[in-house]
Amino acid sequence: CGIVGYVGDRAALDVVVQGLRRMEYRGYDSAGVALVADGALVVRRRAGKLGNLVAALEEEPTPASTTGIGHTRWATHGAPNDRNAHPHTDERGRVAVVHNGIIENFARLRAELEARGRTLSSDTDTEVVAHLLAEALPVSGGDLAEAMRAVCLRLEGAFTLVATVADDPDVVVGARRNSPLVVGRGDGENFLASDVSAFIAHTREAVELGQDQVVELRREGIAVTHFDGTPAAVRSYHVDWDASAAEKGGYAWFMQKEIAEQPRALADTLLGRVDESGRLSLDEMRLSDDELREIDKIVVIACGTAYHAGLVAKYAIEHWTRIPCEVELASEFRYRDPILDRQTLVVAVSQSGETMDLLMALRHAREQGSRVLAICNTNGSTIPRESDAVLYTHAGPEVAVASTKGFLTQLVACYLVALYLGQVRGTKWGDEVTAVVRDLAAMPEKVEKVLEAMEPVRELARSLVDARSVLFLGRHVGYPVALEGALKLKELAYIHAEGFAAGELKHGPIALIEDGLPVIVVAPSPRGRSLLHDKVVSNIQEVRARGARTIVIAEEGDEAVVPYADHLVRVPASPVLLQPLLTTVPLQEFACELAAAKGFDVDQPRNLAKSVTVE
Ligand code: G6P
Repeated sequence: CGIVGYVGDRAALDVVVQGLRRMEYRGYDSAGVALVADGALVVRRRAGKLGNLVAALEEEPTPASTTGIGHTRWATHGAPNDRNAHPHTDERGRVAVVHNGIIENFARLRAELEARGRTLSSDTDTEVVAHLLAEALPVSGGDLAEAMRAVCLRLEGAFTLVATVADDPDVVVGARRNSPLVVGRGDGENFLASDVSAFIAHTREAVELGQDQVVELRREGIAVTHFDGTPAAVRSYHVDWDASAAEKGGYAWFMQKEIAEQPRALADTLLGRVDESGRLSLDEMRLSDDELREIDKIVVIACGTAYHAGLVAKYAIEHWTRIPCEVELASEFRYRDPILDRQTLVVAVSQSGETMDLLMALRHAREQGSRVLAICNTNGSTIPRESDAVLYTHAGPEVAVASTKGFLTQLVACYLVALYLGQVRGTKWGDEVTAVVRDLAAMPEKVEKVLEAMEPVRELARSLVDARSVLFLGRHVGYPVALEGALKLKELAYIHAEGFAAGELKHGPIALIEDGLPVIVVAPSPRGRSLLHDKVVSNIQEVRARGARTIVIAEEGDEAVVPYADHLVRVPASPVLLQPLLTTVPLQEFACELAAAKGFDVDQPRNLAKSVTVE
């Protein structure tokens, strides 16, 4: 969910709605605002996207107010309807609360409140907090921050809470446990939000709130305390993201813009990490070379698209470091009692840095004594903060729910980690690091070339709007790319899509092939590993012989695939392990264009959220 709070001189409604718009990617099942005006709360909530709320606000304007909170929701407890939309209030409408996360003991708290004669009007876990806060305040006046601290001590689970109270027009209070919340400090005004994109248009000065802390926001300043009431140290940082980078910049969809930004994002991720002699320097990572030499196993954990980056990483890590590497879905990881110790390096990959499944997995790994290296795109987010080390991808803000530049920069970061480990540990090809780093430096330009040739892919996508199923095949690093291509199509175009290891075809999936079924094949480079290439050419023939319509992504100069490709998409030649940086791009474009042609919302697909902060 996305949360905003504001206290200052401006019209709070404008600031809050603008902030919500920036954070709509965090959830868009419903939206709502609460404003403090003339000693009363004004609450407006609507099911559906933010646009519905904005239309309702235009129809029935709210009184002037300079203090407000807002929320866009990704439903956990209760259906996404008007009644369950946030903010929630107590029955007298004195306290309004917005919330992100899950309050695990809410059923018990709700029963207690009902036993005391309270009437709750929604199915949400959030509403209990509004009632508890109202109970914790004296009949009039009182200290909202103090009430918040008392209530938080009774809550179990993960939550960010932001509240306002009718009788104090100059205060917004926030609380955080395991769920993100950042403060933006202005001049005579202050902001609270789930992430900085909500307020970078107004201020670049941010304060990250720590675990189990409460912040009291007033015009003239902020006060941060721990749940037990003791003052907390405040750590400020400067946000260097460009506000315009979070706008669409002429594209119809953020996703298109983010696909187009990939060459720049890759270059930025490489920047400053290679010295003049071509050696990598990753000092920012905070793990000493000695610590890196001790490692005898690597486990990559991630969710969704980031997991696919992890699958590619395995090929690179094992090849370049000779350290055994496993890749696992974060949501599965800790439940199977994985074997972890001090010599295990756990690499946690996340664009947002807030994915709860991953956060819980990395905590488990650290409890077992393993060191955790985060690969993350969001400065100051929870996952890097809780890790031993971090390597930031410099993709800039990613707004579209489906990750594109986030994914490509994660690949680069994984390559860098693998190469660096190789360099530090002096594996046999250690000297080759320089050569591979040079190859990496050439990738942004090659991605640019792929992007320039995308019109036929878009045309193909438009011709397939009626497809009911699409299969994706790949081998070696092309296999994770096939999985990622299929995920994109599912997420955006709601078409059944599956990625298979091409070698597995004959063991089952080939039964799915029927006349006209589109099959997208990611062909490996014909150079170097020609055996692999020959096998894929055979796989293409096998599906085509059974009626499939073959769409082949192949390197320039690969003539062997030509006779069997109904459609051919060319990518520049590159070293085998780096190929996913190129072959993924047409698959992103394909899914994006197909979804747009079907009239779907490309940036905000149904039922998904960009950052899933519940387990
Ligand atoms: C959500 C998004 C996916 C994303 C995944 C992991 O499910 O919808 O697009 O890949 O989370 O996100 P992260 O921020 O951890 O990379």
